[in-house]
Amino acid sequence: MVAEVIKRIGILTGGGDCPGINAVIRAVAKTAMFDYGWECFGVEDGFLGLIEDHVRPLAREDVSNILTRGGTILGTSNKANPRRYAVGKDSEGNPIFEDVRDRAMATFHKHGLDALVVIGGDGSMTCAAGMIPQGLRCVGVPKTIDNDLMHTHVTFGFQTAVETATEALDRLHTTAASHHRIMVAELMGRNAGWLTLHAGLASGSDIILIPEIPYDIGKLCDFCRDRMKHRKSFTIVAISEGARPVDGEQVVDQTIVDSPDPIRLGGIAQVLHRQLEMCSGIEARAVVLGHIQRGGTPCAADRVLATRLGHAAAGLLAAGRFNRLVVVQQGALTSVPIEEVADQQRLVEPDNELIKAARSVGTCFGD
Ligand code: F6P
Repeated sequence: MVAEVIKRIGILTGGGDCPGINAVIRAVAKTAMFDYGWECFGVEDGFLGLIEDHVRPLAREDVSNILTRGGTILGTSNKANPRRYAVGKDSEGNPIFEDVRDRAMATFHKHGLDALVVIGGDGSMTCAAGMIPQGLRCVGVPKTIDNDLMHTHVTFGFQTAVETATEALDRLHTTAASHHRIMVAELMGRNAGWLTLHAGLASGSDIILIPEIPYDIGKLCDFCRDRMKHRKSFTIVAISEGARPVDGEQVVDQTIVDSPDPIRLGGIAQVLHRQLEMCSGIEARAVVLGHIQRGGTPCAADRVLATRLGHAAAGLLAAGRFNRLVVVQQGALTSVPIEEVADQQRLVEPDNELIKAARSVGTCFGD
């Protein structure tokens, strides 16, 4: 049953981009327009657009022909949190933060929006949850290559990133073999090892290092030397940007003070490849896959998932079930309150079935 109250919805994409966002925008907007007769508006650059009033109508043509396009036609930002928005700088150059949730809500009302579809990760869901007490009505769609949102077994964008990273690791295999080297590839994922675990397993990487299992450098050296003894003349290491040694810390690349999630990890591959070269005596190289993992066209599985999620998000609004996140559990779509995923990350459990399978085929986790 279509709730009478909805006539006009906004669509916002927040946080780091990933393949499949446009496929979700298309599914939400087409379901809204064709099934329910609603008008759609695009909020530009995530919550920044809601704060700064950058909102534009979306016509049918805007959401046609975008299923396969990477990135987001609406733009995104992983900086603007309405609850803690940088409005300027003090005399020492430090940002001054203000709570601008009322300003963001004023934009929402100014454009006559009845509800907002927030396509994002935990940062965007935290921003959305923070505006619910201000009267925001929303639904969330789980987006991230990190696959670390609570209560959903998969986020869209993840499967494409796994494909991209797997292809990169496959390519490293051939050059590693030719040169008899250790190749250390750094993958994204923040504090969660899902991307590295899946791509590492799919590519047959010899060593997989994830944040959830701190590694022992001595054990890694022994493993590489052992491989040489057994005529395996190269070693592929897939390491998460958030991985750390048992007696050490994560490597932080930079801190972005006005971001809801200010820490940017990066640099561990450089550190590890030097350590491995020194202790094993085997030549080593480091590669950072970086934002390549977020770019390009979504794989078929992500196009399907994105379309299902977008369609379901519009359906939740139509049913008057506001402030929920569409999630995938046991392969089926359901939903949970957005507040339950705010400020949380879903990590790999050390006894995860994939880890057990990888160990059985000889993969080293450095523990
Ligand atoms: O959350 C997605 C992600 O790509 C993480 O894997 C990575 O740590 C981070 O975003 C990078 O953020 P930025 O786009 O600010 O460099």
